[in-house]
This record gives sequence, C-alpha cells and structure tokens, in this order.
Amino acid sequence: MCGIVGYAGKEKTVPTLIDGLKRLEYRGYDSAGIAVISENNLVVKKAAGKVSDLEAMTRNLTGIKSAVGIAHTRWATHGEPNEVNAHPHVDCTGRIGIVHNGIIENYKALKTYLEDRGHRFVSKTDTEVIAHLIEEFMKKEGATFMDAFIETAQAIKGSYAIAAVSLSDPGTIYATHLSSPLVIGQGNGENFIASDASPFLGRASKIIYLPENEIAVVAAAGIKTFDLDKRKKDPVFEKFEGTLESIQKGNFPHFMLKEIYEQPERIEDAFRGRLLLQEGNAFLGGLSPVWDKLLKAKRFVISACGTSWHAALVGKYMFEEIARVPTEVDYASELRYRNPILGPDDVVFVISQSGETADTLATLREAKKRGATVLGIVNVVGSTIAREAGVGVYIHAGPEIGVASTKTFTSQLAVLTLITLAIGRGKGMSKEKGKFIASEINSLPEKARRALGTENLVREIARTFKDSRNFLYLGRGANFPTALEGALKLKEISYIHAEGYPVAEMKHGPIALIDENMPVVFVVPKDGIYEKVLSNMEEVKARKGRIIAIANEDDEYIDSLADFVIRVPRTLGWLGPIVNVIPLQLLAYHIALELGRLIDQPRNLAKSVTVE
Ligand code: G6P
Repeated sequence: MCGIVGYAGKEKTVPTLIDGLKRLEYRGYDSAGIAVISENNLVVKKAAGKVSDLEAMTRNLTGIKSAVGIAHTRWATHGEPNEVNAHPHVDCTGRIGIVHNGIIENYKALKTYLEDRGHRFVSKTDTEVIAHLIEEFMKKEGATFMDAFIETAQAIKGSYAIAAVSLSDPGTIYATHLSSPLVIGQGNGENFIASDASPFLGRASKIIYLPENEIAVVAAAGIKTFDLDKRKKDPVFEKFEGTLESIQKGNFPHFMLKEIYEQPERIEDAFRGRLLLQEGNAFLGGLSPVWDKLLKAKRFVISACGTSWHAALVGKYMFEEIARVPTEVDYASELRYRNPILGPDDVVFVISQSGETADTLATLREAKKRGATVLGIVNVVGSTIAREAGVGVYIHAGPEIGVASTKTFTSQLAVLTLITLAIGRGKGMSKEKGKFIASEINSLPEKARRALGTENLVREIARTFKDSRNFLYLGRGANFPTALEGALKLKEISYIHAEGYPVAEMKHGPIALIDENMPVVFVVPKDGIYEKVLSNMEEVKARKGRIIAIANEDDEYIDSLADFVIRVPRTLGWLGPIVNVIPLQLLAYHIALELGRLIDQPRNLAKSVTVE
C-alpha cells in the first residue's frame, strides 16, 4: 500500500519520478505527489486521483533543473484521499519533504508533542509528523539532517518506508524502513530508492535490499548506508536483471488479461527443472535444508491472505489427499493474534505473491518464534517474506501488475503440486504412481492453454449476466477454493456481490437466495463427487436459478442441467483448480469490461497490503 520512489541523478528528475510512480501504481492509486529540489527551492506538487493526474499537473516541470526528488502514490489509511492528505508532506518551513509507506502508530502522541512546540499541521495523515519531527530535531545544537532523520526513525513506531529530502542537504535522499519494503537501485551516475525494483528497471544494474533500521544516504555520486548509531555499513550489492517487457502490457488492453493469458507459460516456468518425469518425482532445491523436517512433521499449517489464502486451501486438499499430512489453513490475520499452538513438530508454509503482506509476515515471525519450521512460497524475489523465511520456493510468475491476482494463483498451485508430489514420494508413494502424477502435472500448461480457448463463450456469458446484482459460486473438494477464488475475482473488479460456497453447504443458507435472477456458477469436473454435484444442480434448477457450469470436455450430460456450459480439459481432481479457475478469471474480466470498470486498478484495493 502506497508506493514511494526517489531519484538522484542527472536525467530529468520529474519524468523519471512520474514514470517510477506509474510502475508502482498497483500499490495504491487514490492520490499522488512529487517533491523535487530545484535551484534551492523545494517544489511540491500533489494531485487527488491517479498518477496521470499528477503527470498532467507537472507537465510544465518536465524540464526543471533538479538532481534529486521523491514521489508517492497513495492508498489512504489516515485521512481521505485528497490533495492535502497526499504525500509528500513538508515541515513548517517548507524546507523538508518526506514520503512514507506504512502506518505511524504513535502519531497522535507525536502530533500533540509537536503542536505543543508550535508546529502547524495541515493534513489528517499520520505521516505529517515525520516532516515536523525532523524539523524539530534539527533545532538541536549541532544536529545535522542525518542526526534528525535518525532521531525521527527512533521516535516513530509502526511500519514505515520513508524517503526524505531537504534544502539543507540538497543533493541527497535519506531513506529508512521497518516492516515496509524499500530497495535501492544503483545505475550509471544515477541512483534510486523505491518500494520495489520496477521504477529502476532498465536503468539500474545493481540492487540493495536495505536491511531494516538502516539508513540509506543516496546521491547521484553514490550510496552509503549506516546503522542507527551512525556507524557506516557495507551494503550488499546484488545483480539486478529485470526486463522492461515484464512490466509492459504488450498488445493486451489490460495487465489482467495479459496475465491471464501468460498462465500456461508461467506454470511451465514453475515446473522447469523441478518436475522429474522419469523419476516420477519433483525436486525443489529450496526445500533441501528442511527436507527431514518436512517428512517428519506431524502437521502442516499454511497461512496467507486473499487469493494466496485460496491457494493455501487448495494446498490442504493436495497435502492431505496425496502427501497424507494433516494440514490446517489459516488466515494470517487470524493466526497471528490467536496465541497459536505451533511448535517444533509443525511446518508452517506462508504463501504470498508480494512477499510483503503485513499479516503474513507477522505470521511467519510468530511461527519462527514458536520454533516451527517456516517455508515461504513467494513470487517477488528478495521480498521481505522471501528473505525472512530463508527457506522456500519461488513461484517464478514474473511481475504481476493487475491488482486482482491471476497468474500468481495458478503458479502458487503449480508449486504446491510439486511439493505434494515430492513429499508424497518421500513418504513412500510408489514410483509408478509418482510417474502417473508427474505426467498429469506436466500436462497442466497445455490444459490451461485449452481453458483459455473458452474466452469467446465466456464473453457471451458475461454479456448475459453483467446486470446481475449477485452471483453464487459453488464447488466441492479442491474446487471449493476455486469457487471462492472465482467469487473473489468478480467482487474485486466488477463490484458485483458474489459468494463462494462448498456445493453441499448451499442447502444450509444460500439456497434461500436462489430465484430466476440468480446466476449460479458450478465448478463440476468429472471427479469422484461429480454425481453429488449434479444433484445440487438439480436443486438450483428446480428453483429457477440460472446455471453456468465449468465442466469437462467429455461431459455429455451436463447440457441438460446448465444454461451455459464452459468446457475445460479433465485432470486429476486435486489438480483441477489450475485449469478450472481460468474461465472464472475470464468471466470476472469480461463482466468488469462490460460494466466499464477500471480493471487493473479496482477501487479501494491495493496489490501489496503492508498495513494490518
Ligand atoms: C491484496 C491483493 C490480493 C492478494 C492479497 C494477498 O489483497 O489485492 O490480490 O491476494 O493482498 O497478497 P500476497 O501478496 O500476500 O499474496
């Protein structure tokens, strides 16, 4: 939530920062702002709305002479999204500008302290205290900007990534962070700080993952880092190899559609070098350090938020059915506050696309504290969860820009299938069975490709149902989470109310909602519980519900029950979600498109939720 970027260099500072903000806009997009130092002035511009509004407002500054600046795209927590509350915030003198991602939990006490000393606040944000605190601490005898910045970092509590500029040190950005991401990019005669690496793609060749509670002092000429005692540190520069294409839409109208279509390839990427067809096994190097623990664990716990939680729930079906390990699935936000019973016999998997979700990170820390073995299943390389977990598996889905997750869901599932197979074999599954499963897993990219072929029919269904006020999504077994994910996609991007339910639970409540206006989406592959689901479809039909079925290509019976049948290839029941979810992603996309919604940036949402 919220994206920050800072630039020190010789290129045009304003367009560089605006470009950086556009790439971070997935983190928040209700208002944006920029502060640059130009000819000993701190020039601050802010706009309610998107980065494009800020861009329009700052067009006249494109050529401004400036070698340093900071910028911010906001997802409001404290104070409504308007121009005044947008960052950067400045101190009373207008000489210090700061941007912040996170929440300052003790801001009320700090604000009172500062107001008592004569500081005037203009915004309703928690962030503004930071600018005034630096100003206040600068008043101390002999204090440098660095001293005041460090003292501020020690005074604030909560989660933060902060970048500050000041006329007292006009060529430099000061930055620090705690529980909110911050990376530094080193380019050729120019350097960056940002919430993630996307703003310096194509311009920086090295990256520093700044350790928490360290201070980065970034100028065009170089990067220095210090601890809070002002002791110089030796930053670890890592090679940075991201490509610009990975964050561009190409020929697709939306990132979401591009990412939906990427899925077959991304699933292949997740399998590459890991799926061993001849041996009927999978090898994931990231699991090696804890392999014995994985085999001996009494229990697995999987914890995550949002779409990643749905992947976790599919993981439970996989781990219990195939690997035969009792598995619990918990929302990270619940687990962390429940005094959880976790210990050395447990293996805790945390799943996160961004690797930054505050609750998931807290769960990881809690599980480690209690002695459990912790593994991360993460997309963003070098993210906080990936680094803190230490052990785990990257899903290799590449940057996901659309706020509604699509390809990272199927890539998470792809990795979970491999882990399931490896553990299953490790616990005595025969090679023969392993080979059969491995070849089914290997067929998933092709089956996902065929599932994409349903788009024309899905578009027609979207046009038919776009004005419905409610949707019900039903599935059973591993496809219960598929139903949850289908409903979540629709809610997120179309703003239509949708509920996902286990099919048989329908009788215990949701059936009361069914009438001729209620579209009911059944995920009904031909697996062990197919017949049972058909009976539930009859019950919906008897109450005049409109049925959309995600069924298998060879299902000849289903047409007699459903109004629309979307056919996808058949696979093993527990692998089904990877294929079956694709038409549901497309359905949400096309309904949102019909309704003219902002598909890649739905209202109120953010892709990376770094606050509780
Ligand atoms: C936000 C995003 C969701 C995502 C969830 C968990 O709510 O909008 O798409 O599923 O966070 O994020 P994570 O990065 O931990 O998977």
